[in-house]
Amino acid sequence: MTDVTDVTDVAVAPDGAAPTTPFDHAERRIWSGKAEAYADTYARLCAHPAAALLDAAEVGPGVHVLDVGCGSGTVSAAAVARGATVYAADAEPGMVAATRRAVPGAMAHVARLPELPYADAVFDAAVGNFVLNHVGRPLVALAELRRITRPGGRVAVTIWRSPGAPGQTLIGRAARAAGLTRPDWLPALAPHDDFPRTPEGLAALLDAAGLLGAECSEVAWEHRCDPDTWWAGAERGIGAIGQVLNGGGAEGMAAARHAYDDLSAEFHMRDGLLVLPHLALLAHGRA
Ligand SMILES: C[S@@+](CC[C@H](N)C(=O)[O-])C[C@H]1O[C@@H](n2cnc3c(N)ncnc32)[C@H](O)[C@@H]1O
Repeated sequence: MTDVTDVTDVAVAPDGAAPTTPFDHAERRIWSGKAEAYADTYARLCAHPAAALLDAAEVGPGVHVLDVGCGSGTVSAAAVARGATVYAADAEPGMVAATRRAVPGAMAHVARLPELPYADAVFDAAVGNFVLNHVGRPLVALAELRRITRPGGRVAVTIWRSPGAPGQTLIGRAARAAGLTRPDWLPALAPHDDFPRTPEGLAALLDAAGLLGAECSEVAWEHRCDPDTWWAGAERGIGAIGQVLNGGGAEGMAAARHAYDDLSAEFHMRDGLLVLPHLALLAHGRA
């Protein structure tokens, strides 16, 4: 394989538009300094489809794989355990540092979709676990993953399904019940960059990005978690919901927590844990 770090290449948006958007700038702000909070809370939730994602990308011994949006290193660790040669990339330097600490066998860099600093066709596979839902131009990001993957190699990604399962929306419903709204600085994805968060919608996006034989399926599971840890991810500012909660100040946060305690009753088990149904999409195709 070519040395993956020897060429800096830049993705060109298929329609000539800027590859990064106000949504991307907001994402940089959201994730800045959040590595520890993420590792302590939602990393365990996002770990669920890691094995299926690596299977879909055919990651095994000797495979050169990029884990993009590596976060605190869950997928990279699983790929190293399979005997793969693992590169990891994340836009947030704190996440890259966390991956370096947790997965010394992976080569981790700060790099951002949709402009990755790798030459064409240098990886056998590229995977992104819950990162495509954090980029402003998902189609351009997928085209970039196809570009860096050798012909015949696999690209596999997960995102949250929408509509999702009730566990996914619990904190959002609590925030709404408390009257909290999205802060002004937090844009939604531009409509022309968005796509249906369904198996058909994500498969069509892979197809449009030039990936061959695109397939997408749903992955459903129940996440078990104590109520304080589940709340803490958002309270500590993870994701858009973390911005909504924190945008409401101490009073808004307290009101949302009150609503959360009420609404979470339906998910409580006898042992005090919450059992939270989740629904994701797993898609893959060949470069
Ligand atoms: C929900 S976390 C998932 C982390 C990891 N894949 C996992 O399974 O735990 C999303 C990650 O994507 C990163 N991210 C967001 N936008 C990105 C971009 N444009 N390029 C690369 N990484 C990005 C964030 O910094 C964060 O670490």
